[in-house]
Amino acid sequence: MSLPSKASKKAFVQEKFTSVTPRYDLLNTMLSLYIDHYWRFLTASLLRGCDSPILDICAGTLPLSREIVRQKKRTVVALDFCFDMLEYGMKRLGQHKNGHCILPVCGDGEALPLPDETFSGFSVAFGIRNLSNLTKGLDEMYRVLKPGGIAAILEFSRPSNPVFAPVYRFYLHRILPVLGGMISGDKEAYRYLAESIDGFYSQEEICNMMREAGFKDVSYRPLTMGIVTLYSGHRP
Ligand SMILES: C[S@@+](CC[C@H](N)C(=O)[O-])C[C@H]1O[C@@H](n2cnc3c(N)ncnc32)[C@H](O)[C@@H]1O
Repeated sequence: MSLPSKASKKAFVQEKFTSVTPRYDLLNTMLSLYIDHYWRFLTASLLRGCDSPILDICAGTLPLSREIVRQKKRTVVALDFCFDMLEYGMKRLGQHKNGHCILPVCGDGEALPLPDETFSGFSVAFGIRNLSNLTKGLDEMYRVLKPGGIAAILEFSRPSNPVFAPVYRFYLHRILPVLGGMISGDKEAYRYLAESIDGFYSQEEICNMMREAGFKDVSYRPLTMGIVTLYSGHRP
């Protein structure tokens, strides 16, 4: 499968997430053996010192937004351009601790319908890889953060360990599309996941792009053998 062009990526991504919505959370947890909860816990922890409001983009079914309000009661604006994902997440908020503090917004992460210098913290989990223009996305993140605000970005990356890397690649390209396809009914969505991880920027490139957007003290921390990486920076 070849990756969608920049021009067609938005429509492709929107369609794929709409199609996997009802199975998204289950698949995440199954395919990561529940480790995704730990990754989001660490991401939300970076924002523990931030007051209201916090912006979580590419929020999907709200797993990271929920973790942020669970750790500390604050207002979280949860933005995604896939209405079905947000709606599904909101319906399942139920009795979740501080769930009422989450405000869903259907909008584009590359053109945020939000004013400048509004948020004390910003987060995005497994979203930047799906943007059609990461530079635009990072500029928008920077624009809406208040001076002193913190950005926490969680994204898949490629393990560098020479023993583990080929094992992981085999899982990503051979096992994940089959399992993900069987459970979600959309094999192409999981082929896209594998291809988009392979074709994405390196950790150093992402840090440089964050610096170019204006972020300071940019750093990254590989997690779980480098399967994912947690990036952080702040607006001076
Ligand atoms: C892999 S899901 C991540 C959901 C959630 N953050 C999590 O931790 O599981 C990626 C989400 O990004 C959203 N997305 C992709 N491009 C977007 C854009 N340009 N603007 C807003 N949302 C976008 C998709 O609709 C999808 O819900």
